[in-house]
Amino acid sequence: MHIHRLTDRLGGLAFGGDYSPEQWDADVWKQDDELMHQAKVNLATVGVFSWALLEPEEGRYDFEWLDAHLDRLHAAGVAVDLATPTASPPPWFSLAHPDALPVGPDGTRLTHGSRDTYCVAAPAYRLAARRIAAALAERYGDHPALALWHVHNEYVSLCFCDHTAAAFRVWLRARHGSLDAVNEAWNTAFWSQRYTAWEQILPPRASQWHRNPGQSLDFSRFWSDETLAAYREQRDAIRAHSDRPVTTNLMLPGYQNLDLWAFGREVDLVSVNHYPTAPGVDAAAHAAFDADRARSLAGGAPWLLMESGTNTVYAGGRVLAKEPGDILRHSLSHIARGSEGALFFQWRQSKAGAEQWHSSMVPHAGPDSRTFREVTALGEALSRLGELAGSSVRAEVAVLHDSNAWWAMNVDGLPSSELDYLGPLRRAHRTLWDAGTTVDFAHPEHDLGRYRLVLAPALFLLTDAAAENLRRYVAAGGTLLVQHFSGLVDERLHARLGGYPAAPLREALGIRVEEHRPLAQGAEITLSDGSTATVWSESLRTEGAEAVAAYTHGMLTGRPALTRHAFGSGQGWYLSTRLDDSGYRDLVGRLLADAGVAAELPDLPPGVEAVTRYAADGRRWQLLTNHRAGTVPLPEPGHDLLTGGPLHQLPPGGCAVLHRP
Ligand code: GLA
Repeated sequence: MHIHRLTDRLGGLAFGGDYSPEQWDADVWKQDDELMHQAKVNLATVGVFSWALLEPEEGRYDFEWLDAHLDRLHAAGVAVDLATPTASPPPWFSLAHPDALPVGPDGTRLTHGSRDTYCVAAPAYRLAARRIAAALAERYGDHPALALWHVHNEYVSLCFCDHTAAAFRVWLRARHGSLDAVNEAWNTAFWSQRYTAWEQILPPRASQWHRNPGQSLDFSRFWSDETLAAYREQRDAIRAHSDRPVTTNLMLPGYQNLDLWAFGREVDLVSVNHYPTAPGVDAAAHAAFDADRARSLAGGAPWLLMESGTNTVYAGGRVLAKEPGDILRHSLSHIARGSEGALFFQWRQSKAGAEQWHSSMVPHAGPDSRTFREVTALGEALSRLGELAGSSVRAEVAVLHDSNAWWAMNVDGLPSSELDYLGPLRRAHRTLWDAGTTVDFAHPEHDLGRYRLVLAPALFLLTDAAAENLRRYVAAGGTLLVQHFSGLVDERLHARLGGYPAAPLREALGIRVEEHRPLAQGAEITLSDGSTATVWSESLRTEGAEAVAAYTHGMLTGRPALTRHAFGSGQGWYLSTRLDDSGYRDLVGRLLADAGVAAELPDLPPGVEAVTRYAADGRRWQLLTNHRAGTVPLPEPGHDLLTGGPLHQLPPGGCAVLHRP
């Protein structure tokens, strides 16, 4: 079936947000039509939390109210991103099917009265979800307002109930083939954990001490597959009636219950939600991190920022307000990295209810407000960027990212609570972002040949295939940096015996790690090049590599801390400790220089963010944001699509989209 491109239907980039007209009355709807027109909104996400209205009792659907809103939006020139409402089952559903309510690891069954009160593995839930998706698709599959299908909302919840246990066992049989293989994979020979019947196996519920790590990792994989199956059922029910693209909005970056690469392959358009967790320039770096991940999950294809907040930065238990101009800056950061628009949660701020204090495009204060004025200015700006639709981004550097490695670092029993997955990934990306470099994320088994430099900040788990892939990458001329605590276990979490990391990677790096020496909390060590490091150290031997910096303390004195190996036509670097920020920045800077990677626009000073989008026909656009305190003259003035005029300099906080013929 030919799937229609979203931007073709919209005639440009998408702009709008989640829209819940069921919270309001006809007077407000009328005002919504006017304000959406004024703000140049062209896409509204409808129906996300509408299950209770759409199916007031089991099997009886009421679509007339939704017909009216879709027709109204269509008449107002606003296309619809129609959601299936399955993230929020109504109370009647939970009362009729209490076994479909989620159960926590400690056995507590949750009740209705919130949202996400479902177990994705519960048969009654799956059936009800398929039914309502099919009913919506049948009714609206070719509605003229319909531009996009939005399955569910953020598949993020977990469940440990008996339905989950049953489905987990089916999954384990398919993955491992036999109970003996499960016992072997999980090394149940230890701690007297041997299973003698499938029915004995449970999800990793609360237990006395460390839960079995293999069981925990397999459960994470199973849960992602189960959730993906639930998504696919809805998608396929929709596809039977509709040729519009289907997506599900992924929540980046903190929720790691899904293998997002797998979701990226199953959606017609990757869409993500982004809410920064730090203010100021950190929020801009967070936006870039999530946007680069979204583009990478999409395999480089266009994707969509489905949700962000006009005034929402979650930090330390507070919801901080964005600074004036952040609405445009953050939206452009996503668009620079391939998003086909910018959408928000939500159009109009709820007057009461669970998200009453969540920011919106139309705040409680109404349209006469700074927020709505900035929203309108953004709509105006995006309406001028239609020519960017379908263009793509090019990166010469990749950061490796694998959900399996992430899940593997969440199991019980690791040697330091300061080892984490997301932190090193963010840091690697941030360091490259500060250097003005455009970055992809890649899976360790992807073909890496197009990258000059690859960073592997946190690859605790590494499959044989991935280790071989990395070896080949270096041999063929790539520059690879592997950081501490990487390549230690295979896909079953079995340690690599005979020295870390996995053998093919040892060959590429020319080293062999013999012993881990975690550092005490707060302890700082100095390396021979004067840089300092914390958290971790390792006793390693070079086997062909040269030592670039050595340890200067304790039993590791004189032994290599940072190594470089000329292997094939490439370079394999290994960093066995956690360098401080300036040391890490220097190292990454050196690797960029060695690998011949220049900043996206080397003539611009640090602090001016720049990304280029390329069209297939040779046109290109440079998207710039000035994070510096002063005005920056542009070495190469150009035509700015945002203002429609020539641009010679960028004021502090200013943005530009320069068309380069
Ligand atoms: C998520 C959800 C929305 C809303 C926002 C609030 O991204 O998808 O429904 O709750 O968070 O930030």
